[in-house]
Amino acid sequence: MRTAVEPFFFLLCRLLLLIFAPTFASVERRSLACYVPYGCFYSDGHIKTPQSPSLINTRFRLFQRIQVSQVAETGGTPLASDLDAFTGFVNATKKTKVIVHGFLDNGHDNWVTYAKDELLVKGDFNIIIVDWGTGAQWPYEQAAGNVFLVGAELSHLLKHLHDHGGVNYADVHIIGHSLGAHIAGLAGHPLTSIGRITGLDPADPLFTGKPINRRLNRDDATFVDVIHTDATEFAVTKGYGTREMVGDVDFFPNGGEHQPGCPDRPVESVLGNLLQGAFEIAGSVSTSLSCSHSRAHDYFIESINSPCKFFAHQCSSKSDFDNGKCLSCPAGGCGVMGYDADATSARGALYLSTSYHSPYCGHEVSMEVVISHSMHGYSYGEFFVTLVGTKGQSEELKFSNKAEFYTTDTTEKHVLVTHTDVGDLTGVKVRFVRGDGLLVAIASQHEVKVKYVTFEFTERQSGKIKFCGHDAHIQVNHVAVLHSTSGC
Ligand SMILES: *[C@@H]1O[C@H](CO)[C@@H](O)[C@H](O)[C@H]1NC(C)=O
Repeated sequence: MRTAVEPFFFLLCRLLLLIFAPTFASVERRSLACYVPYGCFYSDGHIKTPQSPSLINTRFRLFQRIQVSQVAETGGTPLASDLDAFTGFVNATKKTKVIVHGFLDNGHDNWVTYAKDELLVKGDFNIIIVDWGTGAQWPYEQAAGNVFLVGAELSHLLKHLHDHGGVNYADVHIIGHSLGAHIAGLAGHPLTSIGRITGLDPADPLFTGKPINRRLNRDDATFVDVIHTDATEFAVTKGYGTREMVGDVDFFPNGGEHQPGCPDRPVESVLGNLLQGAFEIAGSVSTSLSCSHSRAHDYFIESINSPCKFFAHQCSSKSDFDNGKCLSCPAGGCGVMGYDADATSARGALYLSTSYHSPYCGHEVSMEVVISHSMHGYSYGEFFVTLVGTKGQSEELKFSNKAEFYTTDTTEKHVLVTHTDVGDLTGVKVRFVRGDGLLVAIASQHEVKVKYVTFEFTERQSGKIKFCGHDAHIQVNHVAVLHSTSGC
């Protein structure tokens, strides 16, 4: 904000507000904030007007391979000369990767540093970390409002790099998490030809369903890829990520909702002021609540240099994917979640499974369990399986994400991920563990009877492999080995 233009600028803003005030009043009371040279911003429902650039004090930090520490920094309310100095360090021959954090994070957060380091291993890039940590604090409604200013600031910087530093927009890739995904969209939108935006679980509250110029959307860059990891409804279970398909390609690992290995989240219904109440509750237990939300950047970071590819399959729903209906890949090949998403032609909604823990990528195998017709009563619990093959055994894998009911003729299917290449399957070890907590668990049988299990690897064309259970009693917590392929 430069003093010479300030009084006139604000006078103009007040005048505009006066003219448009009746229009605003008919909808709701809005307030307006204007910051040179970024423009004017209005409040929108719960979204507040942005705080001032000097208060948010956004820092742009530049990193390159040539040195371990940061190469240059600018921000706050930079003069054109500050931007020129920063631009002098950006090498337009190299591609540029921009990393933008989300709510409650800052530019020194672990994941931001890991992402920067992995990217510098991958290629000789200009890496720009956008640190808007001061503006990303409570209350959420203020951080959400600040997104609009930080988006404009990033846009302004990129335009300067383009106009004065020869940086090609097509060589720019913005990676944003949570609210940072919307900052990426808002920054890219006016420039029209940014090469790529990766949205890592774009924030849901106050952004889902908004007009496309007020959130991340597929035309904010030439290619927009999105990873959804916490897309349960915010009002009910406090999912932080949007369900909305906002990219050219939208990845839904593990269905895009609750991520395996993350603590279970109780379903709470919030009465009264949904938003206000929800944020207060979310604030007190934000670490466990953000586990699924954080997986989006964990998956992306792993994908940068890992030889294992997160193959993903076109599918219409999580249940179709779980049911093994989408295991094949179209002629153009499977989609690949993460860094290589732009190297494949797969578009639309893509589904995949991941491991429960890092490394998250592995070999996908579709597994079906069919319970015997002769089983009496029911059992409530979970199956654990170990694959046995010509090259060895897998680690013990969880069959389902949670305890299920198994009774006569129950058929249950899931897509599991193993880190081990077991070769050709020769058998499987099955263990059943009773679920707890529920009253029904007490009435549950102490055994299950399995008719058969089938397996199908998504990466191989080997077809289904079936192992018979011969209706044998499998006692709770005992390991049963199934290897017979006929007679069931
Ligand atoms: C810019 O990057 C290119 C490619 O990495 C390199 O050859 C060139 O020397 C760099 N220029 C400067 C001024 O560092």
